[in-house]
Amino acid sequence: MEIVILPDASEVGRVAASVVADVVEREPEAVIGFATGSSPLAIYAELARRADAGELDFSRVRGFALDEYVGLDYGHPESYHAVIDRTVTKPLGMDPALVAVPDGMASDITAACAAYEAAIDAAGGIDVQLLGIGANGHIGFNEPTSSLASRTRIKTLTPKTRADNARFFDSPEQVPTHCVTQGLGTILRARRLVLVAQGAGKADAVAAAVEGPVSASCPASVLQLHEFATVVVDEAAAARLTNADYYRYVWQNKPGWKHY
Ligand code: GLP
Repeated sequence: MEIVILPDASEVGRVAASVVADVVEREPEAVIGFATGSSPLAIYAELARRADAGELDFSRVRGFALDEYVGLDYGHPESYHAVIDRTVTKPLGMDPALVAVPDGMASDITAACAAYEAAIDAAGGIDVQLLGIGANGHIGFNEPTSSLASRTRIKTLTPKTRADNARFFDSPEQVPTHCVTQGLGTILRARRLVLVAQGAGKADAVAAAVEGPVSASCPASVLQLHEFATVVVDEAAAARLTNADYYRYVWQNKPGWKHY
C-alpha cells in the first residue's frame, strides 16, 4: 500500500482529489466509486472547484455509491441517495442518470444487490474507488466480521456505527438498523482504491488497517490485498502508525509527487 501522511485535512482532500482528477482527465467516461460520510467531503469540494474552473468535466463520468440505509426514504436528507446527490452529483456537474446508489427500498433486497453487482460489471468495473473508514475499521458499511470475499448485500449495523451516525439524525433511534453495502470483495475488484481519514478518532482504525493483520475484525485491512491501494491521512489520523517516517520518506521521494 501507498501511505500518504499530510499536514491537515484539506491537503488530504486535495491530494486524493488529484488522483481522481488524473483518472477523469485520461478517461472522460471513467467509473468512480463514491463514499459517503464526512471524510471524502473535502475531495468532492476540491473536485467541484476544479469542475467550476473548467479544469475537469464530469458530465460523462459514471458513478457508483458504496452503500445505502435500508428503509430510509430517498426523500430523507440523510439517505445516501440524497447525500450523493447533494455532495457529489450536483456539485461535480454529473448526469444523475449515470450515478447509481444501492437500492435500500427494494422489496427484494437480494435481487437488488445482485442487480447492483451486475450494473458495476456492465459499466466495466470501477476505475477508482474512494473510501472513508469507520472508527471500528469498517469500509462502506462492511462491519467487523464481514467476509473478505463479500459482495453487495444487506448488513446489520453495529451499535457503534449507529451511535457514530446518530449525529445526522434527530435522535439515535432514527438511525436505520440495516444497510445495503458493496462487499469487501466488490471493493477489491476496483482497479484503484483511495482511502482517506482525518482526525485522531480514526488513528486506531488506520493503524489496524495498514499495519495490523489482514482480518475481518478490521475490514479495511483488506486493502492490503489490493495491488493499487493508497491511504491518505492527516497527521492526527497517522498518530498510531509505527512506520510513519518510512511512509513520509517514500512519499517525499516519489517521482512526480510534486504534481499533487
Ligand atoms: C459511514 C459510511 C462509510 C464511512 C464511515 C465513516 O457510516 N457508511 O462509508 O466511510 O461511516 O464516516 P465519516 O467519514 O463521517 O467518519
